[in-house]
Amino acid sequence: MIFTTAYIVLGTLLGAQALLNSNLNYQSPSRRQEHAILSIDIPLVERRAWKRNPEEYALDELNFTHGIASGDPWPESIILWTRIAPTGESDKKQQGDVPLYYHDTQPYIDADPHPICLEWSVFKSNNGTAAKEAVAKDTTFPTSDIDFTVKSPLGKTKTAYREDDHLDKISLAVFSCSNYPKGYFNAYGNAARRQNHDHVVHLGGYIYENADPTGERGHKPPHVLLSLHNYRTRHNQYKTDPDLQLLSKDWAWIPTWDDHEIANNSYRDGYSNLDTTEVSFLNDGPRISVDQRKMNAVRAYFEWMPIRQVDLDDNLQIWRNFKMGDLFDLIILDTRYYDRSIADGKESNDYIDLIRYDAGRSIMGSRQENWFFRQLSESQDRGAVWRVVGNQVMFSHRIEDASGQMAGDDWNAYTRSRNRTLKHIYDKEINNNIFLAGDSHQNWVADLTWTGKKPYDPDSGDGSVDGRVERGRVKHTNLTFNTETNEWKVIGFEKMYL
Ligand SMILES: *[C@@H]1O[C@H](CO)[C@@H](O)[C@H](O)[C@H]1NC(C)=O
Ligand SMILES: *[C@@H]1O[C@H](CO)[C@@H](O)[C@H](O)[C@H]1NC(C)=O
Ligand SMILES: *[C@@H]1O[C@H](CO)[C@@H](O)[C@H](O)[C@H]1NC(C)=O
Ligand SMILES: *[C@@H]1O[C@H](CO)[C@@H](O)[C@H](O)[C@H]1NC(C)=O
Ligand SMILES: *[C@@H]1O[C@H](CO)[C@@H](O)[C@H](O)[C@H]1NC(C)=O
Repeated sequence: MIFTTAYIVLGTLLGAQALLNSNLNYQSPSRRQEHAILSIDIPLVERRAWKRNPEEYALDELNFTHGIASGDPWPESIILWTRIAPTGESDKKQQGDVPLYYHDTQPYIDADPHPICLEWSVFKSNNGTAAKEAVAKDTTFPTSDIDFTVKSPLGKTKTAYREDDHLDKISLAVFSCSNYPKGYFNAYGNAARRQNHDHVVHLGGYIYENADPTGERGHKPPHVLLSLHNYRTRHNQYKTDPDLQLLSKDWAWIPTWDDHEIANNSYRDGYSNLDTTEVSFLNDGPRISVDQRKMNAVRAYFEWMPIRQVDLDDNLQIWRNFKMGDLFDLIILDTRYYDRSIADGKESNDYIDLIRYDAGRSIMGSRQENWFFRQLSESQDRGAVWRVVGNQVMFSHRIEDASGQMAGDDWNAYTRSRNRTLKHIYDKEINNNIFLAGDSHQNWVADLTWTGKKPYDPDSGDGSVDGRVERGRVKHTNLTFNTETNEWKVIGFEKMYL
């Protein structure tokens, strides 16, 4: 075995004056210390510590209420996440000038006169048990000073293979659309108990921003999310779920966001229930702008998810690539927020049909699109067998009813983006591509073809560029598949939540 399994031990040290010099959200390895652009004007920030200064927390007030998590595995590093705090409450007020989509937490920790410090250690797996010597740990405090009275659960995680490692098999547990009030997260729990995957991929809908406040699992806060405090409170609630914690404790997650991490049917400049018009600003919600709401949600997301900031000059970027040995590249996209042209929604429901073929429309913006195509090419050039695209919304051509209606919120509303992608794939003869998608609450499988442009035999699958993904595994019965055109048609709709 070439991969390493790491055991995480977390403990706390109270009242120490020394400062943490690592960022728990997305350190390892990070050049952020050298990055002046990430600096913050501390005196302008209203610190959470002011509320309780000069009181220290007592040990019995503290708890690892939200478990431990790991994410974004690289061969040499991995993100470890936890939160130790007396309650799930967060500050209601934020002040100060910070960079756009700012999500550094270090300045807040540094500014706190009574930081709650964590001691963590990572041990290599020694045939299933933790080796004696830690391979990595925080060295800020001597071991003898550490009070382990508050001890987190012990977790496991797995770093990634090196890109030139030879692999025959790797298993991903893939999730999307985890809507807390709709039911228990058995899907998370069952995956954790089965233990037959290497990593967890979440394609978005990790939280839902809507109200849905009633019932045993009613949402907190009990209203639609808008402020930073709102988004933090919702993440806090989801992270208390025992099944979610179980699956987070022992596997590295590779998450991306879909619309509901911020708001329903989103694009670069709006959501289905809030857009940039004055009418919307005045009447939808308590006069919060689209951008302010997005900043709030993005900040909370980075605080609560074990995700790495891949470009230190671009706080909104979460599109990134994981090279999984010589077997595949896992290309994670953001087809929602980064630079997506208008989707159907408040102002555009009526005219999305008129613009879905416009050449200027893009589901991810030109910068990401160029990056995406380059990843596909480079993956092929380096000899990776597969390219797996972790994407939010359905890529395949799909009509919804007899009138030929198509979705206004997936790749079918961005047909030029899809054609440009297919052109790149076919022109460069890149085979073995799999597009994963969340969002639709249903299971679908389709060949990857450029219908109408490239030859394709629906019986044999010849002409598709998906490396012969096994067909006929669609579990949802209320669908028909037209083998002539390779199109799916929805004849009924049943929601399938986790
Ligand atoms: C800490 O968490 C444990 C496990 O969830 C719980 O039993 C305990 O009551 C919590 N303690 C506090 C102080 O919240
Ligand atoms: C690893 O542990 C298993 C039991 O857990 C044992 O059967 C096997 O012999 C061990 N392998 C080595 C190399 O020690
Ligand atoms: C999401 O947006 C779509 C498009 O506007 C709309 O049909 C749907 O009802 C919205 N869903 C929610 C939960 O707001
Ligand atoms: C995409 O490609 C197909 C096949 O060539 C073509 O029929 C369709 O018009 C193209 N879509 C756009 C928006 O150009
Ligand atoms: C979906 O199919 C099942 C089984 O054929 C059927 O019982 C159900 O009524 C259908 N639902 C819809 C919404 O058509």
